Amino acid sequence: MIVIANARRAAPTVSRATTFTVAGAAADAMASAAGTAPGISRAEFERFRDLLHRVTGIHLSDAKQTLLVGRLSKRLRELRLASFGDYFGYLNSGQDPDELQRMVDLMTTNETYFFREPGHFDFLRRLAREHPASQALRVWSAASSTGEEAYTTCMVLADERGIGGRWSVLGSDISHTVLQVARAGRYELQRTRGLPDEYLRKYCLKGVRSQEGSFVIDKRLRAHTEFIALNLMQPAPDIGPFELIFLRNVMIYFDQPTKRRVVEHLTQRLAPGGHLVVGHSETLSGLSETLRAVRPTIYRRST
Ligand SMILES: C[S@@+](CC[C@H](N)C(=O)[O-])C[C@H]1O[C@@H](n2cnc3c(N)ncnc32)[C@H](O)[C@@H]1O
Repeated sequence: MIVIANARRAAPTVSRATTFTVAGAAADAMASAAGTAPGISRAEFERFRDLLHRVTGIHLSDAKQTLLVGRLSKRLRELRLASFGDYFGYLNSGQDPDELQRMVDLMTTNETYFFREPGHFDFLRRLAREHPASQALRVWSAASSTGEEAYTTCMVLADERGIGGRWSVLGSDISHTVLQVARAGRYELQRTRGLPDEYLRKYCLKGVRSQEGSFVIDKRLRAHTEFIALNLMQPAPDIGPFELIFLRNVMIYFDQPTKRRVVEHLTQRLAPGGHLVVGHSETLSGLSETLRAVRPTIYRRST
């Protein structure tokens, strides 16, 4: 039995653990080595693929075998394991309960940047203007990666509702590695792609001396944010309700049943009339009876 902790640094209300079992080892003995790629047999690949899918919802096509080898080989070397079969056995042995999390962290794709898909932030700006100032406005960046989406949201909300206004931003991700970066809020200056100079000056501080070449998000913005570990495959804990949830550029990794499940979990945490926003290459078509498209990629909870 392997256990993956779901919310390490979470508030008590969201702290929980997910338990799952890795399939037995017998299949390997029977598996054919046909389709063997350097370093991994077809059977080994399938066992990792099943495990990753069961835990994260991420579906790896056959073409992703090389990607898996590329991302996990270094870990095998660090553990001085001779084969992927040995690594799978190690994961299953319970010797190191944190190893599954490490594997998941290595297998997730975390690309993100400030003001990615900027039309969504124009939409947020309008929402922030229309929402009564006396009522808190809550936004959830539900696959936040290293935090750029959450901090972009902060900048827009600070602009529209004041830096001391009633608003908050929750960021969450399954990967603990990216959450560490998000919580620190420190980025390389090269990563300002998409970030207007005005916002860089207004809401970020350039690093000096040992921090030269980086910038940090102003702590007044960070005071409005929290980042928690959360697996979208599990029902969302008792957080929310949110006026807006970003679920962008993560469903591309999921198959149809997983998408449906994840959307259902998140819809439960939307305020009535709240909006769910997906990435530009994603759609919720046929996935939810509760959400209505208000424009491509932006959906509204109707009940
Ligand atoms: C490509 S990034 C998207 C970041 C940001 N939303 C954006 O659009 O720029 C996808 C993120 O989804 C996270 N992820 C993948 N499966 C997940 C799951 N089951 N639960 C929570 N996060 C997950 C990954 O760790 C990764 O950081």
